[in-house]
Amino acid sequence: MFIASSTLTQTPYQIVKETAEKFIAHFSKVELPDTVCSQPGPLLTNEQLLQLKEEAITAASFFDDTQNWQKGKAQGSFYFLSRGGHTAVWGHHQFSSIVVKLRRSEIAAQEAIIAQKAHNFAIHQRPFWCRVPLSTFIDVPEMGSQDGAVALYVEEKMPLVMTSDDHKQFWVRIFIHLESTKCSSVFRENMVQLVCHMSRFIEETGFWDVGYRNFPEVSMDGKYVCVVDFEKIDSDKTELYAGLKRLAELFPLSLFTVPLFDVYQRIGISAEIAVNETLNKTYIGRFRVPTKEDCIRDWETRIARSQKELEQTKTSFIFFDKKNQ
Ligand SMILES: Nc1ncnc2c1ncn2[C@@H]1O[C@H](COP(=O)(O)OP(=O)(O)O)[C@@H](O)[C@H]1O
Ligand SMILES: [Mg+2]
Repeated sequence: MFIASSTLTQTPYQIVKETAEKFIAHFSKVELPDTVCSQPGPLLTNEQLLQLKEEAITAASFFDDTQNWQKGKAQGSFYFLSRGGHTAVWGHHQFSSIVVKLRRSEIAAQEAIIAQKAHNFAIHQRPFWCRVPLSTFIDVPEMGSQDGAVALYVEEKMPLVMTSDDHKQFWVRIFIHLESTKCSSVFRENMVQLVCHMSRFIEETGFWDVGYRNFPEVSMDGKYVCVVDFEKIDSDKTELYAGLKRLAELFPLSLFTVPLFDVYQRIGISAEIAVNETLNKTYIGRFRVPTKEDCIRDWETRIARSQKELEQTKTSFIFFDKKNQ
């Protein structure tokens, strides 16, 4: 298990504050990591995968009942770990280095291909602060539904403890530090590097589902960021423009948005126009394909909105922090 017992008794406020402090301490050092990804290799042996499959079949009705994970119940070795917009993420007491997500068979197969390509890219970048979990899947036709056959998507467990709301607060803390007199030039440079790594990752993989969930999710030791959700990512990379825009919205300081805009101009705008041209075939007459100028205006509007929100959050945040000192 990655979760230290002390973490379980901490409030979200303390977890965020401590993770931000670790992150700031770590990224204020010059040391660049070689890679933060695990070396390629099987997550579980074939026998272990078969065991997992057998246990999942036994627990099929448990997985089906959403009440179970809402109540945080466990079944056999499976326990509820986390959830996003629609996926319940299960941990396993015996195989503590993995998580399991239930998927339709063809989706799991597609997701594993994209995730493995992404892992392969990330591990060959040196240095690189983005961690992609190793993954595999196993079909479990015995759990098939009307929608199609079911598979277990098995993924390396990332050391994550912060929720989406926690991440929002986490980054506000980081931005406050960046603008404070305590911030070192090393930290600033490393932050630019980190955002640059994320944009390279988007460019290479087409990952667009950027946000406080999925990417970047910060490791509990504050030493790197993880990418965890490849379910909706297409191999054709056409939506990378959306990933770049979302990244710029998350990091709305000009320190980051200026280099990100260069990337958006180089590869994002053409991708955005191309996608809209394709859509236009379906929705002819209902909207027009954006021009380059429209794309740039949209980028600027989004960043301005995000900057405004950040200013408001920072003010209330500093006030709240003082009260809790
Ligand atoms: N491999 C993993 N290790 C640890 N936590 C994970 C892992 N995958 C997902 N999670 C956690 O569970 C959340 C939901 O998982 P995700 O696959 O993103 O589901 P959804 O498709 O519903 O967004 C993530 O935001 C993350 O916090
Ligand atoms: Mg997600």
